[in-house]
Amino acid sequence: MKTLEKASQLDIQILATSHGVIWRRNLPKILKAYSDWGSGVTREKAVVVYDSMWGSTTTMAEHIAAGIASQGVEVEVLKLGETDRSWVIKEVLDARAVVVGTPTINNTMFPTVADLVFYLKGLRPKGRIGAVFGSYGWAGGGTKAVREQLQAAGLELPLDDLQVNYVPHEAEKEKCLDMGRRIAELVKGS
Ligand SMILES: Cc1cc2nc3c(=O)[nH]c(=O)nc-3n(C[C@H](O)[C@H](O)[C@H](O)COP(=O)(O)O)c2cc1C
Repeated sequence: MKTLEKASQLDIQILATSHGVIWRRNLPKILKAYSDWGSGVTREKAVVVYDSMWGSTTTMAEHIAAGIASQGVEVEVLKLGETDRSWVIKEVLDARAVVVGTPTINNTMFPTVADLVFYLKGLRPKGRIGAVFGSYGWAGGGTKAVREQLQAAGLELPLDDLQVNYVPHEAEKEKCLDMGRRIAELVKGS
């Protein structure tokens, strides 16, 4: 933000950051985007990002997203493994809520989810609400591991984690819808 302040005094023709592409056009738009990202400006939008081995966490993600959308909040659903981490982060940049789902594998979160939350921890996005969900078989451990990492990334986690044992049945799908509705209310209220 300090650099942006200095930049506002300059007549910039080329924007050459140390870590990315060189911009020669649309400079006001690019500088505005950096300013919004840096100061944590978000929209009424949630990102549901997850991975799944056998589909149970997918079913949860779909129902949570439906609950969010039912309250008129924009929602983006992204499955890791099919989506590059950079694309997920692009969607997170203007989202007020980041909802992360993982199956439990070997007592912890799924590796693609670990990759994402590790990256998020480095970025420490400001002013985001987080929520955690996932399916497990016996002892669980996936959602707890995600929660710890999201907290370390500075997200606020006002809701209890939602865990389902193996396949989500009707009552559990209803709980997922309800979680989505509550996330939407938090997004609208912040
Ligand atoms: C390789 C593998 C390791 C697993 N390890 C655990 C575990 O340590 N603890 C546990 O509670 N469940 C474990 N499970 C069970 C899964 O968490 C469970 O099948 C869950 O429903 C999978 O969710 P998904 O359908 O979203 O992939 C494991 C499953 C697999 C395939």
